[in-house]
Amino acid sequence: MKIKVFTLFPDMLRAMLSESILGRAIQAGLIEVELINIRDYTLDRHRATDDYPFGGGAGMVMMAQPIVDAVRQNTDPGFHGRRIYLSPRGRRLDQKIVEALAREEALMLLCGHYEGVDQRALDGVIDEELSIGDYVLTGGELGALVVIDAVARLVPGVLGSDESSADESFTTGLLEYPQYTRPADFRGQRVPEVLLGGNHADIAAWRRERALEITLERRPELLDAAPLTDDDRAALRRIRRGREVAALLESHGVKAERLELRLADQWPKKWFAAFVPGDRRKAAKKHCLSGRRHVGFLWRAFSMGFARALEGDAARRAWAEDRPDPCLIYLPDDGLLFRTSGALPDALMERLGHFALADEALGRTFVATSRGDAGPYYSKSEENP
Ligand SMILES: C[S@@+](CC[C@H](N)C(=O)[O-])C[C@H]1O[C@@H](n2cnc3c(N)ncnc32)[C@H](O)[C@@H]1O
Repeated sequence: MKIKVFTLFPDMLRAMLSESILGRAIQAGLIEVELINIRDYTLDRHRATDDYPFGGGAGMVMMAQPIVDAVRQNTDPGFHGRRIYLSPRGRRLDQKIVEALAREEALMLLCGHYEGVDQRALDGVIDEELSIGDYVLTGGELGALVVIDAVARLVPGVLGSDESSADESFTTGLLEYPQYTRPADFRGQRVPEVLLGGNHADIAAWRRERALEITLERRPELLDAAPLTDDDRAALRRIRRGREVAALLESHGVKAERLELRLADQWPKKWFAAFVPGDRRKAAKKHCLSGRRHVGFLWRAFSMGFARALEGDAARRAWAEDRPDPCLIYLPDDGLLFRTSGALPDALMERLGHFALADEALGRTFVATSRGDAGPYYSKSEENP
């Protein structure tokens, strides 16, 4: 890839082009960047390159002659590529445009300055105008660097084998998932457990869901054009429902944090041991454990009657008087799991539909099923309230 930059201030670009990944790519000959000083082409006695605008107005305008001559004299015979003027009036740069530019053999980038460029230069030697965003810079040099940097990363060999452009924001049609590096615990903030486990399928699923979540939150319009699978659409429904439930909880003064269902993978044994009497455990496991492991099995164990409820007013009174805080809420219909800070009031519980509630140690559970037979359950240690 050959890139020629036409500028009045070549030194502004030199530092960026000599460091880090760009510097290495240029040194290795993977991309070639030539800086052409427009001033070297002026025919003006005083080497001027700008003049007052016809019709009046503030500032100076870059003259057509030095630009047109600079571009023409630096156009290789048989030039195949695009000649771009960096301009706030241009098409707004995005990853799709960057991908298209990376497929070109050569690029010419014209950097304006002052109030801009004489229109006749643009009409004569420019194919299109590109903007790097809806704001105005003092010159096109930063824009040219943005284009060079974004394009260069897509040129084969520029990124090392451990740096990849395949999985990034926009390339996948989504914004990128959160990244973490060592230490696993930074001042009490832990890296999500799934990333430490080494299960690649789980990690990929976690990353995909986070990418969907971040895109939905920050740039929902990207989802319209993103290639989504059925799993993605199901994940988006879950994420949207999760937000609705969190908002409902918050409207009752209960703060909710959505948890990964996978976090509950460690629970089943504990729950079965705690809640399902020994003589029913085998049958409960057969009916309630299947395929993917998560807290849903446990809800099934309760709702199918394998777990032991402590019926009676005493148990209900004990639950009503001492609601767990924080508590875990599992909504089986939506596949959602929350940890709340704040006990759940009755009015809220009535609006949750089917659910299982538990304290964090899973010592006490309350289940509301479709059959309506909700009841408090206690693990052995707290059996008789
Ligand atoms: C002060 S600006 C000129 C703005 C011009 N008078 C206008 O209102 O459109 C000077 C130069 O900075 C560059 N520039 C400013 N904002 C830019 C942007 N958002 N994207 C790309 N280039 C930009 C252009 O090359 C432009 O010629």
